[in-house]
Amino acid sequence: MNQSQIIILEKTESTNQYALANFAKLTDSSLILAKEQSEGRGRRGRKWLSPQGNIYASFVIKKPLHPEQCTYIGAVSALETLRQYAPDVPFWIKWPNDIFTKSTKIAGILSERHCPENYNKSDGAVIGIGVNLNSGQDYFEYNRLHGTSIFAETGKENDIVTFAISLHSALIRNYKIAVDTPDLLFKTWKKENLLIGKNIDIIPESGFQVTGLFKDIGKDGSLLLILPDGHTRKLYSGDVSVKLK
Ligand code: BTN
Repeated sequence: MNQSQIIILEKTESTNQYALANFAKLTDSSLILAKEQSEGRGRRGRKWLSPQGNIYASFVIKKPLHPEQCTYIGAVSALETLRQYAPDVPFWIKWPNDIFTKSTKIAGILSERHCPENYNKSDGAVIGIGVNLNSGQDYFEYNRLHGTSIFAETGKENDIVTFAISLHSALIRNYKIAVDTPDLLFKTWKKENLLIGKNIDIIPESGFQVTGLFKDIGKDGSLLLILPDGHTRKLYSGDVSVKLK
């Protein structure tokens, strides 16, 4: 039987990059954990600053899943693990795949498809998860980041390997749910999206900011926005902010 494993790296460019480059050698459900990243990747080509003390991990998926299912696995697993470590802190999912506490981001997810060389069909994916674990408030202020961490919220430092073991268990559990009962995972992810029903501004991947009512989430994970003129627009990615009246 292929054993899922956790590979711990002192430092790498990006755990997503490492997992994609070594995809063929890695077993399904492996987790790559790095103590530090030199070229951490964020969504929409942004950088993900990655000093020591936080979680930088990538989970290997070798079964055929839709891209949005990777989002659900990553977001629900990060949320469950954060709740386990800080039960008194209110966490929620900000569409499509950020984890927030109150109005501040604490974790982000970047899923990337793997395509074998000379073959344009994907044979799997990696789910990259960054969780701010031990950075202090001064780190976010110094880097002008609107972020927080478990340490900043609770005053408690946590061991990254212990946290990664819990995260890995949650990822394996939710991966199985995604394969066996995908509707169940979708419902759990949707329930935690707290901006449904709110007036929002959204900057889509391509295009200009639009404003409207976040009406619902489609089965494919899309955001259904009611525009001021009453038309509905379906969006698959974007940066959402709450529109204050
Ligand atoms: C985002 O919110 O923009 C997504 C951030 C994802 C960061 C993680 S850290 C581990 C993995 N490796 C990377 O280079 N990025 C993801």
